[in-house]
Amino acid sequence: MTKNRILSGVQPSGDLHLGNYLGAIKNFVSLQKDYECFFCVVDLHAITVWQDPKELAQKTREVTAAFIASGIDPNENILFAQSQVPQHSQLAWIFNCVARMGWLNRMTQFKDKAGKDRENVSVGLFSYPNLMAADILIYLATHVPVGEDQKQHLELTRDIAQKFNNDFSTDLFPIPEPLIFGEATRVMSLRDGTKKMSKSDPSDYSRIMLSDNIDSIVQKIKKAKTDPHPLPATKEEAEKRPEALNLITIFAALSDQSTDTVLEQYSGKEFSLFKKDLADLAAEKLQPISKEVTKLMSDQDYLDQIMKTGKDKAIAVAEPVLTKVYDIVGFANT
Ligand code: TYM
Repeated sequence: MTKNRILSGVQPSGDLHLGNYLGAIKNFVSLQKDYECFFCVVDLHAITVWQDPKELAQKTREVTAAFIASGIDPNENILFAQSQVPQHSQLAWIFNCVARMGWLNRMTQFKDKAGKDRENVSVGLFSYPNLMAADILIYLATHVPVGEDQKQHLELTRDIAQKFNNDFSTDLFPIPEPLIFGEATRVMSLRDGTKKMSKSDPSDYSRIMLSDNIDSIVQKIKKAKTDPHPLPATKEEAEKRPEALNLITIFAALSDQSTDTVLEQYSGKEFSLFKKDLADLAAEKLQPISKEVTKLMSDQDYLDQIMKTGKDKAIAVAEPVLTKVYDIVGFANT
């Protein structure tokens, strides 16, 4: 039986944080044995906002290194940089002509990122989800592991696949399923439990980076916002206390336990004690990854070789799909 196919992407637009790890990369690791996997560093997506050209290639290598350091086997999975496989952009153009303005106007991530400055953001930031749909559908991927924040983009991908199939009376594109799972599908800011942990938050104390040393991890968790009460007894109680719930779900995800099990263990205990254990746990899980990233980054040739092999394998799958799309759309094959 052939395996179902996964595609997922991570932007090289800053260092990776705990949200990227728990919401996405950790799940990639657990899925790799059951699926044929394409993991792509989405540098074309990154340039929808300004990126320093002197740093972009290095950041792309760093995300590849983080994939490998987290436990993704580079020989069994296809790891590559999005810009190196031109079929993504070629299909994205076609999807620009399939997706409707009204669909994109509803994207909350665009609204959040553009804020009040809509007239001044790049056109790419607006059409970003069409490129994401192309990333997925150029491989006819059936499943897409992502964090909760990408759910709406996945729904749009499904709409685009459906509309293309309907418009051109074909069944070429599968309707891909999102895989959003684990205890921490939406990791929140350590400073505000109602805001997502993100690269763009101005406060360093809002997020734990994969590259943080033990001291920073301890300091950030110590300073994380909580309330004066001891840990709650039930999930329902925790849900009314977003900062408490966030730290509990982070603990659960890092220790591969359910939130209920963590609550059983810590209910009624003081946050000072819980935070100490959480900091020890986070350091124990993240330090080996950051050490491995540093090691891999010192061997650029190795990383470039992995990405080159990934690119060749990706093109071998993407090219015939694009040829079919061009045929279906009716382009002259000269
Ligand atoms: P990006 O680069 O912002 O994030 C990479 C992955 O990390 C997840 N994530 C989180 N999960 C839980 N809590 C958080 N606070 C958190 N922050 C980020 C994201 O959900 C994502 O899975 N548009 C995508 C990249 C992309 C893509 C694709 C993904 C481009 N093409 C095709 C899947 C398939 C993005 O900006 O992710």
